[in-house]
Amino acid sequence: MFFTPGLVILTLKILVGTVTLLLIAAVIAISRGNRKLHGQINRVFFWLTMLTVIGFEVVIRLVNPELTDGFTPEARQMLRIHLCFSIPATVLLPAMLYTGSRHMRRIHVPLAVVFSILWAGTAITGIGFLPHTFE
Ligand code: HEM
Repeated sequence: MFFTPGLVILTLKILVGTVTLLLIAAVIAISRGNRKLHGQINRVFFWLTMLTVIGFEVVIRLVNPELTDGFTPEARQMLRIHLCFSIPATVLLPAMLYTGSRHMRRIHVPLAVVFSILWAGTAITGIGFLPHTFE
């Protein structure tokens, strides 16, 4: 089986780390007043994140549904905590793109605060606390 749990989890960690760097760059851009760059980086962030989520869903639902079978009870608990952050963050993402593109600043900025907290939780629990390897 090509999509081994170790490979899938490692790939996910690298992708989440990469898009997090993009998000940080976008926040730095807007804090310096570069709205255009913020928008450009975040459009890439949006599509990369969505492709990651869709690709991951295909792998765990269709290709390798037994992916998490080898998780210990602690890893399972951590996965549940991780999903408490990552599912709402994914739901909020299209609203971030929509409100940003439409310059709905009064909605976009408060949503950005909530999104930042959810994303920080997603990245920290996903990269730091889920198992790195199964071997
Ligand atoms: C996380 C912290 C974020 C902060 C503090 C932030 C803040 C802002 C601000 C202040 C603007 C200018 C609004 C205006 O035009 O009046 C803006 C624009 C925008 N934001 Fe964000 N944003 C964040 C995250 C995101 C995310 C996650 C996305 C998309 C996934 C996004 C997409 C956009 C887009 C497309 C624009 C329009 C850029 C343009 O005019 O070309 N933002 N953002």
